[in-house]
Amino acid sequence: MENNNKFKSFLKGLYRPFYKYILIIFLALISKEILVFMNKNIIKELINMTSGYNANFAKEDFVASVYVYVLMICGLLALKSLSTYIMHYARVVSLYKKQKEHVVKNIFMHLTKMDYDFFLNNHSGKISASVNQIDQGISSLNDSLAKSFINHILGIITINAFLYTINVNVFLITLMASLTLITIRVWYFKKYWMIHDIRAQQHDRDYRGILNDIITNMISVKVNNSNNDYMNLVIDAKNKNLKEVTKEYKTEIGYGFYFESMLNILFIALTSWYSLELFSKNIISVGDLILIITTIVELKYSIIYLAFGYLDITRNIVRLEDAYKLLYNDKVQVDKGIKEKLEIKNNSLEFRDVDFAYDNNKVFKKFNLRIGSGENLGIIGKSGSGKTTINNLIFRFYEPSKGEILIDNKNIAEYSRDSLYENITYVPQETILLHTSIIENIRIAKRTATDEEVFEAAKKASIHDFILTLPEDYNTYVGERGIKLSGGQRQRIVLARIFLRETKIIVFDEATSALDNNTEFIIQENIHKYFKDKTVICIAHRLSTLVDMDRIIVLDNGQIIDEGKPKDIIAKYDKTTRSELSILA
Ligand SMILES: Nc1ncnc2c1ncn2[C@@H]1O[C@H](COP(=O)(O)OP(=O)(O)OP(=O)(O)O)[C@@H](O)[C@H]1O
Ligand SMILES: [Mg+2]
Repeated sequence: MENNNKFKSFLKGLYRPFYKYILIIFLALISKEILVFMNKNIIKELINMTSGYNANFAKEDFVASVYVYVLMICGLLALKSLSTYIMHYARVVSLYKKQKEHVVKNIFMHLTKMDYDFFLNNHSGKISASVNQIDQGISSLNDSLAKSFINHILGIITINAFLYTINVNVFLITLMASLTLITIRVWYFKKYWMIHDIRAQQHDRDYRGILNDIITNMISVKVNNSNNDYMNLVIDAKNKNLKEVTKEYKTEIGYGFYFESMLNILFIALTSWYSLELFSKNIISVGDLILIITTIVELKYSIIYLAFGYLDITRNIVRLEDAYKLLYNDKVQVDKGIKEKLEIKNNSLEFRDVDFAYDNNKVFKKFNLRIGSGENLGIIGKSGSGKTTINNLIFRFYEPSKGEILIDNKNIAEYSRDSLYENITYVPQETILLHTSIIENIRIAKRTATDEEVFEAAKKASIHDFILTLPEDYNTYVGERGIKLSGGQRQRIVLARIFLRETKIIVFDEATSALDNNTEFIIQENIHKYFKDKTVICIAHRLSTLVDMDRIIVLDNGQIIDEGKPKDIIAKYDKTTRSELSILA
């Protein structure tokens, strides 16, 4: 229930700034219906007049009167077109653009605040399919609201109002029939159809997620000779979707055939028979009779389209809610840090009694570590000992279950991630680039950087000369995830970002592991040269890269088992005995 309310307010939020356009659309639709109503009356009068024509009338007068009627009909039709034009313009030109921009901006901002876990646990394809589902869902919802639903509700009201002016009993029969037909259809579809539509959507999203994942990993799939296995996976996912879509269509066609046609035919026959009775008794005119019959046939279509409109709306709302549930899931933590400005004078960093586990995998228990302002700390330890997890906690990709992480004695959990990232940055263990040019890939670290600043950073990361050898140097595209570059080149591009940003605290997680010794040495020198006064954490496997650190800690199983000056630690752990090496394995 509470979730439902949250969804409603989310939906309202997507419409709130645009009430003006919605009002214009609504007024245009009402004007159109008023014109339809007037038009029907004129046609009715015209029929009455022409049916009463006989040789006693002066022909010129008669022709002149018909002209007047036809002119009035033309005038009304022109005005009706104008109303329709205004309605469509407000909907597809004004509202469409502005609202879409608003929707995409809202969702994107929300995504940037989501926890890291969310992105780890969901296929990227599934996430983007959900964003798309909301984006498309809103425009489809607008279409079905304006074109089908409101349009036809107003149409049905106009028809009923018109019939009321002719005869109250005919009006009552039509009203009852309209309400019955609408209610049965809506009930039937909610009960038998909707469930398949929801399932079809969910399977479609899973299918897109799997497809996206496989395309991203296509090379691995091919070299592992698993084309067929993965094709089956894709086909299975698609089939689940198709199965539901087929059930959906079967239900829809079945209903149209059995119920709708039968009920409508019955209703048209009944009303026509009753109107003829009225006409025989001279209660209604010939114009009334013709208009009743044509109008109830029109009504049949209005009811069908109204029901389709209703279904479309329900379907779109269900889709929107479904995507909303994935993107705005309560289990997914959205940044709880509310303080917006993390002011740092002293660059110290401290883990105080930190407990942390990934689900059931305990990594830290009462973990303590203090890094002084401007200290350069090296961390070594075997694979899985918790080195990257230290990084994940500093960057609040995950939150400790107990204890605190403090920067300049301020608990980082209280600050928004955005404010945290103003002060800290890192080079991840696995470097993935954006599918854009090299210059844009470096500039992501500082959007305002000039080209010269970017070149300078690239020089410090020892990648500038290589970039100049590329066909379009800095404007060369790196391919999806940076695939067109070597691991070491990608790593240096990410390092260039660090030199461009120069935050107060920097973490390098195996940041030079893919580089040859010589390049690694140059970059390490630059790190010491340019980040002397910064607080630096260097996670590494190769001890030689940590010689210039102020201190090195040795991590094992989430605990600091040793620490000291580089020369001591290196002397101790760089021995070639198997048992010692296992610490660094
Ligand atoms: N996102 C995650 N979800 C669940 N468990 C994780 C996750 N990330 C890491 N782990 C687990 O937590 C433990 C510590 O992992 P961590 O990545 O910190 O190791 P590491 O010291 O950086 O290792 P490496 O040297 O291989 O990079 C490991 O047992 C790992 O399997
Ligand atoms: Mg790691």
